[in-house]
Amino acid sequence: MPTPPKVGLLQGAASALNQGEHRHITVLMTDLVGFTAFVEQAGEEAAFALVSHVSGLMTAAIHHHGGSVKNFTGDGVLALFGTPIALEDGPLRACRAALEIQERLADAGDKIEAELGCRPQLRISLTTGPVVLGAVDSGESTGVTAHGDIVNLAARLQGEAAPGTVVMSEAMLRQVEGMVDAESAGVFRFKGKTELQPVHRLVAVRDHATRFDAAVARGLSSYIGRTSELAVLEEQLQRLHSVRVVDIVGDPGIGKSRLLYEFAQRHSADRIMMLRGSCSSHGQETPFLPFIEVVRNWFSVSSGEPESTIVGKLDEGLKRLSCWSLQNLGLLLNLLGLKAPGSILAELDGTLIGARTRDLLLRLIEEQSRLSTVVLLLEDLHWIDSASEDLLLLIIDREPAEPLIILHTRRPEYAPVWAGRPGVVQLRLAPLSSSETLRIAQIRFGVDELPESLARLIVEKAEGNALFVEEIARYLIERGTVRRTPSGLGYDAGMVAAGLPASVELLLTARVDRLSPEDRNLLQIAAVIGRRFDPQLLSEVGFGF
Ligand SMILES: Nc1ncnc2c1ncn2[C@@H]1O[C@H](COP(=O)(O)OP(=O)(O)OP(=O)(O)O)[C@@H](O)[C@H]1O
Ligand SMILES: [Mg+2]
Repeated sequence: MPTPPKVGLLQGAASALNQGEHRHITVLMTDLVGFTAFVEQAGEEAAFALVSHVSGLMTAAIHHHGGSVKNFTGDGVLALFGTPIALEDGPLRACRAALEIQERLADAGDKIEAELGCRPQLRISLTTGPVVLGAVDSGESTGVTAHGDIVNLAARLQGEAAPGTVVMSEAMLRQVEGMVDAESAGVFRFKGKTELQPVHRLVAVRDHATRFDAAVARGLSSYIGRTSELAVLEEQLQRLHSVRVVDIVGDPGIGKSRLLYEFAQRHSADRIMMLRGSCSSHGQETPFLPFIEVVRNWFSVSSGEPESTIVGKLDEGLKRLSCWSLQNLGLLLNLLGLKAPGSILAELDGTLIGARTRDLLLRLIEEQSRLSTVVLLLEDLHWIDSASEDLLLLIIDREPAEPLIILHTRRPEYAPVWAGRPGVVQLRLAPLSSSETLRIAQIRFGVDELPESLARLIVEKAEGNALFVEEIARYLIERGTVRRTPSGLGYDAGMVAAGLPASVELLLTARVDRLSPEDRNLLQIAAVIGRRFDPQLLSEVGFGF
């Protein structure tokens, strides 16, 4: 039996926490190209004006995506994503912020050139990984600083970025793979590192990219369990005679998106109109964000198409649904971020445009449900914008209604006002059983059975969460901790027990960060004991229950 830790050790841990916190974060570092030469040539005052301008736009982009600026280094910044509050999508946010900085700077180029006679360019680097966050008292100021390899790596990577570009480390790419477009920027040997390090150039963040889309692109493994949940969805479809809503609720990674995907796959050959859209953590200020995706899919509009093609597709779609008018065409174009023809929306203010767009979307859905069964698949309602929330309520409340089924997913922290109403079926996704968890792991490792001790460790770490199992298996394979040998699987139990993949760590930290400060502190102290602990021991170090 393991010996319980002594009270003295726990007290030591409590004070150590005050000295530095281990955390997984993302670093964004920028550098103004040719700044020293500019100071020499244009003088201190012009240099100050330039730095103010550039740092203003960088800070705005970083804040816009939830990062915090830690340091201004004269001509650059160091920004962190994932502190003080952990961000499960911190790496993707940092990518968006970096590209937005480059865009804002390019847009401001003419103005800065007219004022200061130079067109500034930035090099930006992105890294992600573990750091120690500590409060450093320098005498005059106290602030939290990040210490760790990834901060040094960000500085080195930056030197390899071509002016105007964003580069990132291999670990960073792994976190955002499938959600961004990137290309190789070469391999480099950095001081203090023995191995060559691949560097990648970030080209773009994909539209509506989600972690699940990235998983689909990598290849999904067989679907395990969840037969009763699929049966609930089938039953709603069979009983469809008015509006049916299935409210799918569950923790991150538990399998909400996969359930919708499996349902949609099972009906891909049927004459059902599946309209799909996702809310996004960065899209709460964009009115109708999930419906923008719905309209794009509905009318087969792909990104990068010429505007005239898009106009043609919307035009044809509006006619098919008996909703054509020049104003309606203008409203849809405006919704997709394109210019409405002529001055068709000129006499409407923003509120009126919003109201008319909402009414149009409602009518289009009604018309479509007259023609075929419509299934509206809406993902991640915990991030829904208020315009979409209003529209959904209208759709659900409408009377008399054409048959329509809405399947939406959300995490437990948000509940829509229609949850719990008659006609709204709630489907809470429970953790997978141990045998289902192991089946996913076996498929990922490519074996029919796992050694008992490895199976126990995986079940314990995965907590019945499908994403955790997949990520843990991927991490163990990538690091060579678990290897296939002629006689089965070879693994190092100590290493399996020791680490968690960054993606899982980020989700767990984000979960802890949602607790109250007291509960969070208590949990951190308790973590020193292990996953299960004796409340008596905690009360001895001053945490009573
Ligand atoms: N029953 C299952 N069998 C096999 N794989 C599964 C199962 N459920 C989920 N997965 C896989 O686990 C991963 C996470 O699932 P999913 O993306 O559906 O989670 P989620 O609940 O939508 O999470 P989030 O709240 O972060 O969107 C996906 O790669 C998915 O394919
Ligand atoms: Mg999901």
